[in-house]
Amino acid sequence: MSDPYVEAWERSIKDPNGFWGEAAEAIHWYKRWDKVLDDSNPPFYRWFVGGELNTCYNALDRHVEGGRADQAAMIYDSPVTDTIKKYTYRQLRDEVALFAGALADRGVVKGDRVLIYMPMIPQAAIAMLACARIGAIHSVVFGGFASNELATRINDAKPKVIVSASCGIEVKRIIPYKPLLDEAIRMSNSDAQPKSCIIYQRPMETAPLVPGRDMGWQEAVAAAKPADCVPVAATDPLYILYTSGTTGQPKGVVRDNGGHAVALNWSMKAIYNVDAGDVYWAASDVGWVVGHSYIVYAPLLRGCTTILFEGKPVGTPDAGVFWRVIGEHKVRAMFTAPTAFRAIKREDPRAELMQKYDLSNFDTLFLAGERLDPDTLKWAQNALHVPVIDHWWQTETGWAICANCMGLHQYPVKEGSPTKPAPGWNLQVVDPDNKQLPAGQIGALVVKLPLPPGTLPTLYKNDQGYIKSYLEEFPGYYKTADAGFIDQDGYVFVMARTDDIINVAGHRLSTGGMEEVLSDHPDVAECAVVGVEDNLKGQVPVGFVVLKAGVTRPHEEIINELVKMVRDRIGAVASFKKATVVKRLPKTRSGKILRGTIQKIADNKVYKTPATIDDPAILDEMKDALVGIGYAQARQ
Ligand code: COA
Ligand code: AMP
Repeated sequence: MSDPYVEAWERSIKDPNGFWGEAAEAIHWYKRWDKVLDDSNPPFYRWFVGGELNTCYNALDRHVEGGRADQAAMIYDSPVTDTIKKYTYRQLRDEVALFAGALADRGVVKGDRVLIYMPMIPQAAIAMLACARIGAIHSVVFGGFASNELATRINDAKPKVIVSASCGIEVKRIIPYKPLLDEAIRMSNSDAQPKSCIIYQRPMETAPLVPGRDMGWQEAVAAAKPADCVPVAATDPLYILYTSGTTGQPKGVVRDNGGHAVALNWSMKAIYNVDAGDVYWAASDVGWVVGHSYIVYAPLLRGCTTILFEGKPVGTPDAGVFWRVIGEHKVRAMFTAPTAFRAIKREDPRAELMQKYDLSNFDTLFLAGERLDPDTLKWAQNALHVPVIDHWWQTETGWAICANCMGLHQYPVKEGSPTKPAPGWNLQVVDPDNKQLPAGQIGALVVKLPLPPGTLPTLYKNDQGYIKSYLEEFPGYYKTADAGFIDQDGYVFVMARTDDIINVAGHRLSTGGMEEVLSDHPDVAECAVVGVEDNLKGQVPVGFVVLKAGVTRPHEEIINELVKMVRDRIGAVASFKKATVVKRLPKTRSGKILRGTIQKIADNKVYKTPATIDDPAILDEMKDALVGIGYAQARQ
């Protein structure tokens, strides 16, 4: 019996031109491509070379002209402001065109960068689509990042305009964004500072504007004329999204227009099994890749109704809010991170709040962003009685590397596995010498080049960095920096990162970046940050610091300062709340800190005393330190 998944996967690998060329027929092109896959300049591969399109046209105008003008394109559901607002495709197109005009009035043209630092309000999506409309490159920065992180991104992207809002709303507090933005601009290099800022004033807290530089969103739009879609090359960048690398310096992941539109539109049916007219909800944030791909672009490209949710799984107002949104808006498929379900499970373990809502339209729950633990999987399956689908991807890839492709063929779920490589992904497990490992053996998860369309063609203005970070270690392959294995049935298991990236509540953070902050404290001689297991957030960072000789100040005082430094420099989202002072750090003889071993001790996992360690007694000291802050088990 034929299996559409197997057929699709095999064809995508053997005949990528035919496979993706066919998928591209669903997109509107001003000019057809000359070549589907340009492989003339490896390791740089390009999709739909010669083609011209406009992503915003495909996401909005095409549907307005094609009979969906009065269908809801976006539903803004904001329990924190008690607002539900629906935008039809026509309304959204008009608002986007007007804001595109406002950007053009500030001198933004094709190729210019526009930085967007906004909470989860419709204006964030409108600003993104407006950039796409005029060929500008947006770079959205997650609202939970502090000024310093924002400044790093301003320095790299050199935006002509920054779009922001007066404030964001967290569960118990209002976060004024404008002072963070002003500080970031002050900190950034003078040649990178924006010429203008457009600030959306929210009624709960308005922000003072800097004369000559800032303008209110409402005034900017009132003075603007709608702008039309500008054709761009398929290979032109649509956006830059900065993500944590192995240092405090984030990587600017570039996304092109053509491959992105083709792959995301295709993925809505093949992976999520939704179609035009269906309601689709990704409960994430536009600051993350999930928000880019599955709150804004993919559902709109497909003609679905997308939900933009400004709230949390718990506390806005309760652990029933997800069910309320699914029921009220007749959501067919939802996508979020396992951490959100752990938060709900903790507050409402028997999912009693679900009983109040009609979830009869709900078909499938998709989870990603971190490992899906079996408890959460089972809890969600039992509570919802629908398939719960784990899928694995990264900011760099833009869409799923592995999934149970619900629109192709639904495979039985295996706990701990995001199922099989999606079409387009030639995934392999290799040893450090790039030799393929047999089924069941753990190694590096790598993808044979070329990557499918919609993935990163390079890093922003940093081709060498792209090669160094992803392509150098395993020639001919893309390094995912995840380790794992593929079992006898072809199911993929993603076990752990091979670098210093940790996942905190589905948010990707670099422990190296946090170490850079701690090292700046005048009393700290050396330090290590590791991600330890956490029941709610999956992982949380914990710091270990060795103080300089002669420091006699109370440790508690120093630790409070360290916690504050990470919060101020990286942001609240780092969730860096625990640190401890130790006499020394466990290292190999060559001086490498044994972070992996510290992590195992903290998580009560079996660990071997590494042969290269200087003094094994140090591991006992680490254990005691960890017990002191609530991790690891005390020694007998
Ligand atoms: N702007 C400003 N601050 C923000 C923020 C934003 N957009 N998002 C988070 N923060 C702050 C939070 O208020 C919190 O501050 P605190 O330390 O003062 O409490 C801190 O950053 C950490 O946030 P978070 O890790 O999200 O923890 P939380 O306790 O507020 O919520 C969950 C925990 C699980 C409910 C929440 O993380 C969640 O809903 N996750 C969903 C998963 C998700 O969106 N993943 C993205 C990829 S799919
Ligand atoms: P991000 O770039 O924020 O999407 O984070 C990507 C990283 O999150 C991956 O490299 C994995 O380490 C982890 N990740 C994402 N999805 C999954 C998943 N389904 N299972 C296990 N890990 C995941």
